[in-house]
Amino acid sequence: MHSVVISGTGLWVAPEVLSNDELVVAFNAYSRRFNEENALAIAVGEVNAVPDSSVEFIEKASGIKQRYVVDKAGILDPTRMRPRIAPRPDDKLSLSAEMAVAAATEALAAAGRDAAEIDMVLCAASNLQRPYPAMAVEIQGALGAGGYAFDMNVACSSATFALEQAINSVRTGSARAALVVSPEICSAHLAWKDRDCHFIFGDVCTALVVERADTAQAAVTWEVLGSKLATSYSNSIRNNAGFLWRCEDRNPDDRDQLFRQEGRKVFKEVCPMAAEHIGNHLATLGLTAAGVRRFWLHQANLAMNQLIGRRLLGHEASADEAPVILDEFANTASAGSIIAFHRHSQDLKSGDVGVICSFGAGYSIGSIVVRKN
Ligand SMILES: CC(C)(COP(=O)(O)OP(=O)(O)OC[C@H]1O[C@@H](n2cnc3c(N)ncnc32)[C@H](O)[C@@H]1OP(=O)(O)O)[C@@H](O)C(=O)NCCC(=O)NCCS
Repeated sequence: MHSVVISGTGLWVAPEVLSNDELVVAFNAYSRRFNEENALAIAVGEVNAVPDSSVEFIEKASGIKQRYVVDKAGILDPTRMRPRIAPRPDDKLSLSAEMAVAAATEALAAAGRDAAEIDMVLCAASNLQRPYPAMAVEIQGALGAGGYAFDMNVACSSATFALEQAINSVRTGSARAALVVSPEICSAHLAWKDRDCHFIFGDVCTALVVERADTAQAAVTWEVLGSKLATSYSNSIRNNAGFLWRCEDRNPDDRDQLFRQEGRKVFKEVCPMAAEHIGNHLATLGLTAAGVRRFWLHQANLAMNQLIGRRLLGHEASADEAPVILDEFANTASAGSIIAFHRHSQDLKSGDVGVICSFGAGYSIGSIVVRKN
């Protein structure tokens, strides 16, 4: 068994910033329009009026202030309310692969590795652009990586679950160096006409290089002390979109073909699960939360992370103990905890221990405990 390190991280950020103000103005233009067009049906109780959204609610309920998206004009058009993404011919790099190649190039540079030295590529995201050929194989080809590649989807825990596969493959010697990429085009699965969730997501891609400690070349590496995954079935976060839609005579705009959740329930059920999971994981490694220098938590909701911090530490986690990136990026599904790690790890000292932890649909929870070399 080999000792394993994370030796590089990379981040691709979608090109357009979308503020809460812009989002709410567009949503309220849509709701006014909808209510005018359906005035009669609303008056007789056949259709529910669409209530307005508000910036104050969004910031208080979630902590989100803005997000990055691949196309803002389509989202802000009250007659469209979804990003406009041009289809690409089969002989051009697909959008997910383009995002992944950019993030991977940064991660490989940080690790001091050529793509040809990678022999496992995992594309792990909550939405994969197509069923086959696997996105990961396209990314492997575009980068010039060797070995093999495959796709994984465990919703918001896709990146941590893929990290464990990469770690175990390197640990056992079936791969020398692995790349985990998470292209998250969340704006394409979001119901922008639903005020309960229209503010939640943004678009990014993260990348991580995992390799053997004894041959790593990066100036900074993170020794993997352990990884722990858990799942427990729940319908509280769900998206029914899938290849049966055509045979079910469904409309891709049907509400259940997009992200939906029971936010309160998720909040109540997932926070204690995540805190207990991290606490138990640390205990198996002979560690305690008090001995952890930093928690890079999934970025769905600020209050969620504050509650998990309180349960683990006995006090509200400071931004230094559990950095927040969701104010800038919103929820980026599986990429959130990896962005936090990418953005907020340089200042740690050699020997400092940190925990990367995701939680989300499934339910699924994944934690990776690392120590800075
Ligand atoms: C989604 C979330 C931010 C909503 O916050 P919340 O405090 O639970 O808010 P609720 O949905 O209970 O709504 C509270 C009220 O605000 C209203 N409201 C909802 N969206 C609104 C908006 N955009 N603007 C104004 N009011 C809004 C609701 O209709 C509700 O009104 P009511 O009390 O009259 O029924 C929060 O539940 C959450 O983040 N949960 C966890 C999410 C998560 O981790 N998901 C994982 C996804 S990967």
